[in-house]
Amino acid sequence: SEPLKIAIAGLGTVGTGTVKLIQENLGLLTLRTGRAISIVAVSARSKKNRDFDMSDITWYDDAVTMAAESDADVVMELIGGSEGIAKEVVETAIAKGRHVITANKALLAHHGAELARKAEEAGVALAYEAAVAGGIPVIKGIREGLAANSFDLVYGILNGTCNFILSNMRETGRDFEEVLFEAQELGYAEAEPSFDVDGIDASHKLSLLASLAFGSEVDFDSVYIEGIRAISSLDIAYADELGYRIKLLGIARKTQDGIDQRVHPCMVPAEQPIALVEGVLNAVVCKGNHVGTSVFEGAGAGGGPTASAVVADLVDIARGTILPTFGIPAAKLEKAVSQPVETR
Ligand code: HSE
Repeated sequence: SEPLKIAIAGLGTVGTGTVKLIQENLGLLTLRTGRAISIVAVSARSKKNRDFDMSDITWYDDAVTMAAESDADVVMELIGGSEGIAKEVVETAIAKGRHVITANKALLAHHGAELARKAEEAGVALAYEAAVAGGIPVIKGIREGLAANSFDLVYGILNGTCNFILSNMRETGRDFEEVLFEAQELGYAEAEPSFDVDGIDASHKLSLLASLAFGSEVDFDSVYIEGIRAISSLDIAYADELGYRIKLLGIARKTQDGIDQRVHPCMVPAEQPIALVEGVLNAVVCKGNHVGTSVFEGAGAGGGPTASAVVADLVDIARGTILPTFGIPAAKLEKAVSQPVETR
């Protein structure tokens, strides 16, 4: 059969990791999907020398032009940002009938329901395993593995940078400001670092998990958000003495009054599984009405893990499986009735 043709917009950590993964595991991917896979086009901010073979790949200076004009079956949007080029790339690809894979939690947190509807109307996939908890297959876990269940609670550690900072403050007794720079040096931080420490990145991811778990439209605007800037190493030491760990958690609950979504530092009993999740790892816990509590843990950020999730979506598409973005047809997502932020 014809190879599945891919265009990649964005060659940062995730884009480069994705190209490398595909080139390295090509034989395995072909075996698993029954289909040859070929990267036909890439686009990035600068055309500097990349440490992978570009000889058969068409270069585009402009990602939107690539999404419109290349003959790719699948466009990967690995640029980031909730507006601007990333959004245009996704909309253009969908309008041209191409499948979209994105790692862009900000874009989907703001425009997820609308983009999912457009993708569904066009009969293409809008896949985003990489957007939540990096390499942990939590979207697939909830949407496919636990598809038989209804959920009223999903929560977790959704930002690796914050979890690293809190773990490191606890181990070394140093304060937030001292550890922050080290966390950024690791290369997991968002382009806008306040998105990490002020809880915005975790809130983007939480709003996607809530939509998936509860079948409601993504409702980022009603997330109560508080980051970790105000946490001191003394707070952490006191919590320790009382048998708790301080973690930045994202928590989404379905209640009688609507959906409650919140991101803030929490005291977690030290014996709880997620209290033991240290460093840049992420963890997601969900409670299904038949399966009970499931815990997913693993690498929530970084080139390799995030590329692993991007390519998992590619494998679905190559196999011919188009899954509904938020678990049910986009047109059937309920309008989110959320608890107003100020009453919590
Ligand atoms: N800045 C994010 C984090 C990257 O630290 O978890 C993954 O979305």
